Amino acid sequence: MSEGFILAIDQGTTGSKVLLIDGQARIVSRAYGEIQQYYPENGWVEHDPMAIWLGVADLLQEVLAKTPAGGSIRALAITNQRETTLVWERGTGRPLYRAIVWQCRRSVGICKELIAGGYEALFRRKTGLPLDPYFSGTKLKWILDQVPGLRARAQRGEVCFGTIDSWLLWNLTGGKVFATDYSNASRTLLYNIYDLDWDEELLDILGIPRAMLPAVLPSAHRYGETAAVGGLPAGLPIAALIGDSQAALFGEGCFEPGMIKATYGTGTSLMMQAGSCPVRSSQGLAATLAWGLRDEVNYAYEGIINVTGATMQWLRDGLGIIDDVAASSAIAAQLPGNDGVYLVPAFVGLAAPYWDMEARGIITGLTRATGRGHLIRAGLEAIAYQVREVVDLMQAESGIGVAALRADGGAAGNEFLMQFQADILNVPVTRPHAREVSALGAAYLAGLGTGLWRSLAEIAGNWRAERSFYPQMAAAVRERLFGEWREAVARALTR
Ligand code: G3P
Repeated sequence: MSEGFILAIDQGTTGSKVLLIDGQARIVSRAYGEIQQYYPENGWVEHDPMAIWLGVADLLQEVLAKTPAGGSIRALAITNQRETTLVWERGTGRPLYRAIVWQCRRSVGICKELIAGGYEALFRRKTGLPLDPYFSGTKLKWILDQVPGLRARAQRGEVCFGTIDSWLLWNLTGGKVFATDYSNASRTLLYNIYDLDWDEELLDILGIPRAMLPAVLPSAHRYGETAAVGGLPAGLPIAALIGDSQAALFGEGCFEPGMIKATYGTGTSLMMQAGSCPVRSSQGLAATLAWGLRDEVNYAYEGIINVTGATMQWLRDGLGIIDDVAASSAIAAQLPGNDGVYLVPAFVGLAAPYWDMEARGIITGLTRATGRGHLIRAGLEAIAYQVREVVDLMQAESGIGVAALRADGGAAGNEFLMQFQADILNVPVTRPHAREVSALGAAYLAGLGTGLWRSLAEIAGNWRAERSFYPQMAAAVRERLFGEWREAVARALTR
């Protein structure tokens, strides 16, 4: 461990954070700002690209002003909401459309046409991803189809496409560097994760000009230096880019094949480290690039669950049956059981393992005795059952038995959920001491490249448990509950 700090940007779906992290992986100072969500139509979600960049620049200034006297910033690191799709003018940096957020469902029609055309297996074979509006490719096709003249301009090299990492990098470097990293590229549905290149055949099918795509580089890499923009000092190296879920895998120290983490947010992303040998998934997981270090890339299995924490927000904001989501743990624990009530939160279809765009949410098992506590408990239980479905599939596909789960993200603070998760999985669930694991993962990558940390072993050694939850449920109860959950899901599915 050496002297100096990493300035980590974590640009997420609901807000942006900047954290100053020292060589002992401690957060020295931080700043946070929410970002506005735009919902122009049912199922559509957008962000304002300029507001994101200017907001991040302000937060950077705020944290830089709090840097301890004499402390030096070794590098900037960027981690970000993935798949969110931006296009901007190469000559001016002017956004040409609002950012289309990963949650946005506007390209359902495009995906359905591609599936009907028999392209699903081809996309999966090359990108590791299912054909779903979640990923960037069909969002970008939608923009190119809708904005008059844009495709021709993109062909002439006048337009850039990027995810949030590329957009921030471009702006931080004053438009000098146009790049992304392996982890973000692997979420676009355009990048061949086995050949490690943008895929001509897929670009052709979607009508996306190669001239608009960024260079793809290792996650730990000296991308460039800050320009004197947005009130920032020039010359700070930018040394890491990585998507937030992959960053959490790194920050959780999951470096050995088979290690697995769950990030509990609006939705939940489970990732299993798969090592440097390419992996494929045939049954509803995504195969993805975890990161690239120098010449080597790491693969991972990912199970994406669309709606987990968002169920609890819906119980609060939509149904109004709970004032504060934090109270859900105590309310659920007051009931001795679920009394047969299940809530399948397929609000925007179901992702892993089903990938059913048309499925919609249902509540089953209601009786006259059902109260608000049952619905709250069913919301929390649904998170744990969905995670179990993904873990089961990961074990089946990887052939590796899962011995433990590392849990992070907001809902990892929910004691009822963590205990129920351990019970339903029948493996211990552990919360790490560090809470900002995505920012920390990005900082580690930048620190590895700049000498703040020397090895993965040193980073893995930094990981410490805050609390572990051990399975206590009888096997017969566990399997009965999980079986009843699956029956409820079967009633929500359309394919
Ligand atoms: O794939 C989307 C994911 O990266 C979003 O993460 O933390 O912004 O909800 P978050």
